[in-house]
Order: sequence, then C-alpha cells, then structure tokens
Amino acid sequence: MTRESTAEGNSTTVSALACADLQKSFGGVKAVNGASFSVPRGTVSALIGPNGAGKTTVVSILSGALRPDTGAVTLGGDDVTKLPSHRRAELGLIRTFQLSREFGGLTVFENLMVAARRQAGESLVDIYLRPRLVTRRENELKERAAVVLEQFGLYALRDEWARSLSGGQKRLLEISRAVMAEPTVLLLDEPMAGVNPVLIDRIGEHILDLRAGGVTVLMVEHNLNVVEKICDHVIVLAEGRTLATGQMSELRDNTDVVRAYLGGVLDGRIDS
Ligand SMILES: Nc1ncnc2c1ncn2[C@@H]1O[C@H](COP(=O)(O)OP(=O)(O)OP(=O)(O)O)[C@@H](O)[C@H]1O
Ligand SMILES: [Mg+2]
Repeated sequence: MTRESTAEGNSTTVSALACADLQKSFGGVKAVNGASFSVPRGTVSALIGPNGAGKTTVVSILSGALRPDTGAVTLGGDDVTKLPSHRRAELGLIRTFQLSREFGGLTVFENLMVAARRQAGESLVDIYLRPRLVTRRENELKERAAVVLEQFGLYALRDEWARSLSGGQKRLLEISRAVMAEPTVLLLDEPMAGVNPVLIDRIGEHILDLRAGGVTVLMVEHNLNVVEKICDHVIVLAEGRTLATGQMSELRDNTDVVRAYLGGVLDGRIDS
C-alpha cells in the first residue's frame, strides 16, 4: 500500500492509483513531462488542465495502453508499470475514452456482455468439460448486464443497435460498459463531453453512486463547476507536468493554476 501523510500530519491515506515522474514523447512533442500524483482511495478525483496538457496521454499510461518513456505506475501500492492494459483490467483498473468507443454493430445489451471482465466460456477446457459452469456464468453475466442497464436508465434500449443511440446515451453506455467490468479504480476521460446539462447532472450522480459503492474514480473534466460539485481531490496538469493538487476551492486561489489557463478565468469551462 502507498501511504502518504495528509494535511493533518499524523493520519494517513491510502492511494488507489499513483504515478511518479511519468514522461512520454511523441517524436519531438513532449506530451507528458514529469507527471506525479496519487489518487486517494474512495475518492472522485479530477485531472484538469488546458487542452494539450497531456491528460489523455496520462490516462493512457495509467491504463496500460501506452508505455511511458520513464516513470512508474502503482495500483494499490503494487508496481504495474510493465503490465499490459488487460492485466491491469483484471486487477480492477478500467478506463473509458474521450470519444465513446461502443461497438456500433452490437446491441446495447451485447455491448455490456462483451465488456465483462471474466467472459463465460473463455476457456475451451471449460466449454467441453464444464458446460454447466459456462452456462451458469453466462446467466450471471446476463443478470448483471440487466442490473447495470437498469441502473444507468438504458434497459428500455437494450435491443437497440449501439450506433443508433444519441451522443448522451453513448456516454452512458460507455460508463455502463466500464461498470460491467467490475472496476475498483475507474478512469473516465471527459465522461460529460458534448452532453446536455440535465445529463451532466445525471452522469455526476452516477459517478457519486459508484464512489458510494467503493469505486475510486479519476476523471478528466474541463467543466470546473462539475469538478467543484463532485470531486474530492483535484490534480492540475500543465505542459505535461503536475502543477498543483488539492481541493478545487483551494486551487482557485493558486496563482500558478490560474495562470495556466488563458485569461486566468477559473470558473466554468476552460478552453485554451
Ligand atoms: N499519438 C500521438 N502522436 C503525436 N502527438 C500526440 C499523440 N497523442 C498526443 N499527442 C500530443 O501530446 C500532447 C498532449 O495530448 P493529450 O491528448 O494527452 O492532451 P489532453 O490534455 O488530453 O488535451 P485535450 O484537453 O484537448 O483532450 C498534445 O500536444 C498532442 O498533440
Ligand atoms: Mg484529452
């Protein structure tokens, strides 16, 4: 376990996910240049920063989709830097994407079934030697998919092609698919991008419900009003490095943070 002193000094918090001195270049572009932070367990944490600050690249490194040039990632205190994303997913680290990545040619229900972490019948040995076990697992997954769809208000759409959903419904499907994979740590890259205000509130409530269910969440978010409302902890990234961490209310008074955004406007949506 990674333990750190809190502001109070002697008490400790446990980080669910942490990174140290991440660096990543694409050709001549230094996308990440010294990102170090930890995500306290049981929180909804935000990763904020101007466009191009390296947020998505950091999320890709944390999830294992990208290898950093240098630096380390720990999950629950264990070094996972060398593990591929599917191994990290087996350990409970699940991500969603800035652009929704549903399978358009599958139904909503099928999208959830294929997102499950342990598929029914993924072992040939089980299919031939333990068919009843496979059937039982498949039934469990179907029940779970129905519960998750109900939870996210998508049950009535379960037989629709995913490609026919609206942008907002696709966002909900993306999060449902991640939840189907039973995350302990969930990385959400702009889960509310392009979504109407009513749905923003609804997605915010879903995220708080996930936290109440014990999931630690790290979300990339541009809308600071949303961050202030639902995030316990904020990490500010600028030019690939961690600029500041803390609560949103403290960061509004941090001149470095204010300067990182054009015009120093620290309310509402940030567009650089
Ligand atoms: N695959 C890639 N190849 C080349 N350059 C890349 C690649 N991915 C990201 N970059 C560059 O790295 C920098 C950081 O990009 P990244 O997408 O991580 O930023 P971001 O903070 O997520 O931005 P946004 O808020 O616009 O989503 C940018 O300059 C981007 O152009
Ligand atoms: Mg991004």
